[in-house]
Amino acid sequence: MKTRAQYIHELFAHEPDGLRAIRSAMTNPDDQISVPPEDGRLLQLLVSMIGAKKIVEIGTLGGYSSTWMSRALPDDGVIYTLEHEPRRANIAEEHFKKYAAGQHIEVIRGRALDNLPDLSSKGPFDLIFIDADKINYANYLDWAEVNVRRGGLIVGDNTFLFNAVLDNQTTDRVRETALAAMQDFNTRLANPEKYLSMMLDTGQGMTVAKKL
Ligand SMILES: C[S@@+](CC[C@H](N)C(=O)[O-])C[C@H]1O[C@@H](n2cnc3c(N)ncnc32)[C@H](O)[C@@H]1O
Repeated sequence: MKTRAQYIHELFAHEPDGLRAIRSAMTNPDDQISVPPEDGRLLQLLVSMIGAKKIVEIGTLGGYSSTWMSRALPDDGVIYTLEHEPRRANIAEEHFKKYAAGQHIEVIRGRALDNLPDLSSKGPFDLIFIDADKINYANYLDWAEVNVRRGGLIVGDNTFLFNAVLDNQTTDRVRETALAAMQDFNTRLANPEKYLSMMLDTGQGMTVAKKL
């Protein structure tokens, strides 16, 4: 019998050629941490639903999720995507040239927390997608909640934190600091006075919040 995930994957997560090429090119085992096609499609849908034109992504890797989002952007849309590993930033730029609407995507190199303050001048933003080091999720949210427009979206990936948030338990893989940051992130975004929000039971958990 098929699982629900297989059914969704087969019916809704058709991966266009360019997207498949990006994922196939990420052969280094350490690099196989892009969102799955289902989540790429979901991000594209969110971008399209709110008519986003200005997006920030924290955590570029090889450009897979950015490329999904770029495919819902209008011609004058832009994505600023932040990556601290030069090798990954280089790969992403190559991928954007080949497979994305390259003029829409700017890779900002270096530690995200160092670069976000300068990026504020380009805002406010329609959608901010957080998909980088878990320990800084609460810090990224501090920046995002000021720099997303009213009605815009803050989206966080991996927000189950490998299930550590469920019972508030550290594991071999999840230290106390990352657990505390993710609990803070989800709890703040669940506040109905500030956000209309939901946590989606994607494989890794995706928290989606519209700023009120
Ligand atoms: C899960 S991957 C991003 C996946 C990508 N969003 C996708 O789905 O295609 C996380 C990325 O964040 C980068 N990263 C981690 N910590 C960072 C930091 N402090 N500043 C900028 N980038 C960081 C990592 O090098 C890695 O490429």
